[in-house]
Order: sequence, then structure tokens, then C-alpha cells
Amino acid sequence: MENSPRPHKFHITTFGCQMNLADSSTLVSILSDSGFQRVADEKDADLIILNTCSVRDKAEQRVLGRLGELRRYKQMRPDVRLAVVGCMAQRLGKELLELAPQVDIVLGTDRLFELPQVLARSNGSAAVMTAFGGRAIDEIEPVRETAYSAFVTVSRGCDNECSYCIVPFVRGGERAHSADHIVASVRRLSDEGVLEVTLLGQNVNSYRHGHVDFPRLLRRVAGETDIPRLRFMTSHPKDLSDELVEVMTAEPKLMPHVHLPLQSGCDRVLAIMGRGYTLAHYRKIVDNLRRRLPYVALTTDLIVGFPSETEEEFRQTLEAVGDIQYDAAFMFRYSVRPGTAAAQLPDDVSEADKIRRLSELIKLQQKIGHQRNQRELGQVRFSLVEGFSRRSSEFQRARTEGNKTVLFKAADLKPGTMAPIRITSADAFTLHGELVEWS
Ligand code: SAH
Ligand code: SF4
Ligand code: F3S
Repeated sequence: MENSPRPHKFHITTFGCQMNLADSSTLVSILSDSGFQRVADEKDADLIILNTCSVRDKAEQRVLGRLGELRRYKQMRPDVRLAVVGCMAQRLGKELLELAPQVDIVLGTDRLFELPQVLARSNGSAAVMTAFGGRAIDEIEPVRETAYSAFVTVSRGCDNECSYCIVPFVRGGERAHSADHIVASVRRLSDEGVLEVTLLGQNVNSYRHGHVDFPRLLRRVAGETDIPRLRFMTSHPKDLSDELVEVMTAEPKLMPHVHLPLQSGCDRVLAIMGRGYTLAHYRKIVDNLRRRLPYVALTTDLIVGFPSETEEEFRQTLEAVGDIQYDAAFMFRYSVRPGTAAAQLPDDVSEADKIRRLSELIKLQQKIGHQRNQRELGQVRFSLVEGFSRRSSEFQRARTEGNKTVLFKAADLKPGTMAPIRITSADAFTLHGELVEWS
């Protein structure tokens, strides 16, 4: 690395959640501003960046697999520099160099935006930076994902202590951006032509900066910018207030979708997960949401096989999912994360039981998703065109107000067009529709 020239073409791969996607876009813009050029093919790059995730063991295995391939690649191309950034870099720090000595740079979740400076001064030895307290967070400018949609991070990190979760360890405590900064960011994006902004935080409902809480922030962003569509995630059931439901009802810019992770349908399991709510409390929120916003789409996250979860307790999750009727769900097998409180508990649900429980849950949710989507038949959904169907150029793809994918016969609409689409059929994951004539 000592004699290799400063790299100028980079390729970035992002693992993990929207937060990582948002960080990657910010990093892309920081690198571009420093004279680096992004390339679409890894083979054209002299700097390869992996922005990584630690949330489950499988997520880390995926990164390690990729690093194995890159080790072979670097033997042929020793000039290429390899940077591992984000959550797994944060969790493992120097240890990552032992696991993967081919890595040149390891930057944690608060340091990744310093990549250009690190590259400029690296002197042959691997650079590892994982201390918290990088750039002042209000300096971090959000960037567009596409010409028409963007993420804006409202807070970084998390102050909750869900016992299974590595996120507070790898992302640190919650640090909120100021409302002024967020409003200015959304305004700038909207001026650039962005039609939809998703406000991001691990728990947006606990957002607070000065006197501004999350409902207040939403009111400000909606009222002080021209952005046509606003979304947010993730909501934590323990902090979702009536006030938030009120804002969603009053403010047409807010899209009718709430991602509200339940995790388990059993109160005993919720308690040892440290979630801070009961199923009854959760149900109350959902009832209120649906009473006030009849069209709201509701999605969730669920974990099966948490330590000591019995078969009967798992059935309570099935029952809750059957009762609540989600539009969609992300479902996971519990995965021990080193250093978390739950890692102290015996991981005593067998892998075979976890796999069986997960597949039972997925089967149930698939049936429910299919049923829920039938409600959309005949409705006209104002949808944001994203491009073509991934499978066939005969169809274009758009996103409805409720955040569902709808496919319609290709009509040469530019991505970023807002188009009315009448829903004609639906399966568990996708809506199908036809373009309604409009002028
Ligand atoms: N901040 C968000 C999301 C955190 S991670 C929230 O609180 O909902 C996304 C999802 O991954 C979680 O909702 C949870 O369902 C799942 N998850 C997190 N840690 C996990 C673990 N150790 N094993 C299995 N699933 C996990
Ligand atoms: Fe993890 Fe809980 Fe924080 Fe979500 S709220 S990131 S699950 S600790
Ligand atoms: Fe996201 Fe994974 Fe980090 S879920 S916050 S990228 S551990």
C-alpha cells in the first residue's frame, strides 16, 4: 500500500438497514466532493468499500464471505485498497484485521465520513478508527438516493436496551440532529426535485432536540418545506404517542404507513427482550391508528426462538400476528450477539425449532399479506414511479402511498412521475394495476 498511488475510483457495497444505505449515500457524496469517482463495476475500482451490518450472525457471515473473495482478488490486484466501514467495523475494530488481514482501513459508524482524510495520510499500515465522536452530526448532509427520493437521518444511535440487540453497541447512544438542520435538509432536497423523503432513526418516536419532539418535527418539516411526500421509520411502540397519530391524520404529506416492530406476541418474552410494552398496549396503538387512518399500512419485525421461548409462547406470536393482520413483516430467527444482555441467557431453543417456527410464521404472514392486499382491489393509488419491473421490461414499478410495490403495463413514464394506478390484482407481496388516464 505504501507505494500505491492515491486511489481515485471507488466501489461501495452496502449491507444492512436503511441507516447504512443513508450513510453510504453520504459517503459517496463526501468522496465525490473530494475528487473520487464512483464506478459501477468493482473490477474498475482501486478502492473497494464494504459498509457492513452486525445485526445478526448471518449478516456478518455474508460480509466475511465477501472478504474471502476479495482476499483472492487482492492477490491479483495488490494495488487495490480495501476499506471496511460501519457496524461490523465498529464491533470488531482491530480484530477484523486478524480475521481479514487483506483489509487496509477499518472505520466505525462515527468515523466512516473521514475516509478521504484517512486515505490521504495512510502510510502503509492499516488504519483502524472506531472511537465515537466523529464529525459534528449537524454537519452531515443527507444525499439523494435517486433523483426523486431521499433519506434524511433525524437521529443516529439508540438509547434503548433491547436485550438481543447489538445496534446500541455499534451505533452508540441516540444523538438527534437539530430540527433546523433537518428542515433545511428536506428543503434543499425538495428544491432539487426530490418528491419523497424518508426520515430515519432507530427509534424516531424518541426524537428530541431542545423542545422539539417527533410530532413537532413532522409538523415543522411538513409545514416549512414543499416536499410532497414524507415517510419515517422506525417507530418504537413504547414511544409512539397519540400526538403522532394526530399529525399523521392532519397532515396529507405524511404517507399512511407505519413500521411498528412487535418482536413477540408474548408478554413474558417482551419483558425479557426489554421492549417496554405489553401486547395489550401495542394493540391499543394499532386500534387507534386504524380508527384514525383507515387506510394505514402496518408492517412489523418479529423474532422467533428468543432464549426460553416455549412452543406455547411462540403460538402467542402466531395468534397476535393472526389478529393484528400486518400488510408485511420481516421475520427473523434469534441470533446471539456477543456482549448483549441476552447473550448471557442460554440460547436454548434448538436451531431446528427456530427454523420450524420461522417457517410457520412466514407461511401465516404470507396468507395474511395476500388477504390484506386484496383490500386494495379497485382502489386508485397515487404511486411514485421507480423504474421497470425487476423481472420484465413489459412492466413498470411504482410505490403506493402505503409503501407497497405496484406493477403496471409499461407506459414510458419517467422515474419520479407521480401516477394514479388502479389496482386490479394482488398477491402476498406485490400489487398489479393499470394506469388511470390523467392530465
Ligand atoms: N431500531 C429498529 C430496528 C433494529 S434492527 C427497531 O427497534 O425496531 C431490525 C430488526 O432486526 C429488529 O426489529 C429485530 O426484529 C431484528 N433483530 C435485531 N437483533 C436481532 C437478533 N439478535 N436476532 C434476531 N433478530 C434481531
Ligand atoms: Fe435495537 Fe431496540 Fe434500539 Fe431497535 S430500539 S435499535 S431493537 S435496541
Ligand atoms: Fe443497521 Fe445492521 Fe447497523 S441493521 S444499524 S446496519 S447493525
